[in-house]
Amino acid sequence: MTKILKINRFINPFKKTINVEGDKSLSIRWVLISSLSKKRSIAFNLLKSEDVMSAIKCIKILGSKVYFKRDRCEIIGTGLKYNIKKKLTLNAGNSGTLARLILGLLINSQKKIKLIGDKSLSKRDFSRITKPLRKFGAKFDSEKKNLPINILGIEKPESINYHELKGSAQCKTAVMFAALKSHGSTYIKAKKSRDHTELLFSYLKLPIKVKKNKNYDFIRIKGVKKIKSLNYKIPGDISSSAFFLVLTLLSKKSRLLIKNVNVNPSRIGVIKILKKMGASIKFLNQKKYKGELIADILVKSSKNLKAINCPDKYNSSAIDEFLVIFLVAAKSKGISYFKNLSELNQKESPRLKWASKILNFIGIKNVVTASSIKIYGNPNHTTKKNITIKNYLKDHRIFMMSTIAALTFGGNWRINDLSSINTSFPTFLKTLRNIEK
Ligand code: S3P
Repeated sequence: MTKILKINRFINPFKKTINVEGDKSLSIRWVLISSLSKKRSIAFNLLKSEDVMSAIKCIKILGSKVYFKRDRCEIIGTGLKYNIKKKLTLNAGNSGTLARLILGLLINSQKKIKLIGDKSLSKRDFSRITKPLRKFGAKFDSEKKNLPINILGIEKPESINYHELKGSAQCKTAVMFAALKSHGSTYIKAKKSRDHTELLFSYLKLPIKVKKNKNYDFIRIKGVKKIKSLNYKIPGDISSSAFFLVLTLLSKKSRLLIKNVNVNPSRIGVIKILKKMGASIKFLNQKKYKGELIADILVKSSKNLKAINCPDKYNSSAIDEFLVIFLVAAKSKGISYFKNLSELNQKESPRLKWASKILNFIGIKNVVTASSIKIYGNPNHTTKKNITIKNYLKDHRIFMMSTIAALTFGGNWRINDLSSINTSFPTFLKTLRNIEK
């Protein structure tokens, strides 16, 4: 039996300071990059969620050594080449990021590797990643788009030219990983997306050049023979923070300080959108850390939130936060419109569809298409309905969005699959309890 969260209360006013767990994108990247160095890498505040643990299991199967010590994780990797003797199976669990990025690393595996995932991951599109990897010389067992798939890499991958037009950091990063293991220079033209991998490569002094214009980044990477170790203190995750930002905005007389969050410009679409809607959010104590920007985020309850016709230039930098942005739209004055968001239906669950369903449950009028949603906001709206959330492919962000909706719109909620939070934010409910104490 999966655990159910029952909520039948509004949240009381609060004034609190919290920390959120380590950033998921950076944690998975640290694990995978560290696996490429034969030297010992050390991370503090590594996110200990199921997605990151799946990454650790995969690199161990590929030959890395991993040690958890009290406050740190240490990895001694395999170097860039693998010494695999037989066909292996890697399980990416629920993680699209892990599955796509590790395929990039497997470009030079000379034994077949089978990649599998859970029910949600097995519904997601992998042709977006097998296509460029084929250009490097990798072979896949069939044209099929979904996991499980078998990859057979090659000893000397060819460098390639690649256009990434979806704004997918997962695709961009997989190609960057494969490029590191190739001969010559790989050129990538990529629609804007999170740039953690570029920053980590630059920090490690790998041969990468990045030029930017308004819409695209142009990246050149040369293949290398070895890489250095990577010691890293993982900052807090802005995607996890977003649930509590929105909880505060939609609560009465409340204030929250979230310490030490990664506020990389390619991740803060949520802040830009919410500020345009009238939210009171400030960054304090901004500092640089190994190329990344970090800050404490101060947020206060915001009256008079207003609707937004959301410019799609924010889509990639807010892609994981739209579910809660839609809750703010539902409590804002006027009609909000979000467009060109078909990528939202490519996530752990079809999130645009689910957002619409949940807004319907709450009683907020909305019109959804395959790529857009119009939300008819009402600042005074509350509900007394019985609402059950189930069969959502255990999408962690749907669970957390539902929790925030319950605490701010009212109603009598039963939210199934509580364990889904273990994917990205195992301490979500503990953090909530601290806020409510
Ligand atoms: C991620 C990229 C995004 C995001 C995912 C994490 C990453 O996916 O939704 O949660 O770490 O690179 P896409 O790159 O497919 O948009």
